[in-house]
Amino acid sequence: DERTFIAIKPDGVARGLVGEIISRFQRKGYTLVGLKQVVPSKDLAESHYEEHKERPFFSGLVSFITSGPVVAMVWEGKGSIAMARAMIGATNPLASAPGTIRGDFGVDVGRNIIHGSDSADSAKREIALWFKSCELLTEVVRSSNLYVPSLWWPIEK
Ligand code: GTP
Ligand code: MG
Repeated sequence: DERTFIAIKPDGVARGLVGEIISRFQRKGYTLVGLKQVVPSKDLAESHYEEHKERPFFSGLVSFITSGPVVAMVWEGKGSIAMARAMIGATNPLASAPGTIRGDFGVDVGRNIIHGSDSADSAKREIALWFKSCELLTEVVRSSNLYVPSLWWPIEK
């Protein structure tokens, strides 16, 4: 199924929005197949945003994204790439509709809380950049009993 790369940026993590954001993707019906918290290296940040390397805001963007913990995730489900972008909202939070993550929680284009892949090619590239394949759930794990909540309750039969 379609997978997208989502990262909660240092401002989103510091402001305690991790649970809220994860909850939104879960309630939409997407499956979390990868999750980790990392302070990205400069190399990782520069590779991630390499399409912007000639832009005036590039060095500020890289120092911001490496300034603290980022919660990196891979979400899977039908239409997840475009739908995650819709749920995130416009790049500038002031232009993002209320109801979107940036529209609900931000006001500054340089502190816009969250990243989402913008295309199938970007998703593939970013997932490979941030995660090893052994860090992502496989179909085998998700279809096994270990992933079915009702089988974990009650504890005693
Ligand atoms: P990402 O999901 O982070 O990639 O954002 P995006 O896809 O909505 O926007 P884009 O890829 O064009 O820009 C990447 C990031 O650079 C944005 O999230 C902003 O934080 C920052 N950025 C983009 N445009 C500007 C700008 O005009 N000024 C400043 N200061 N930052 C910008
Ligand atoms: Mg982008």
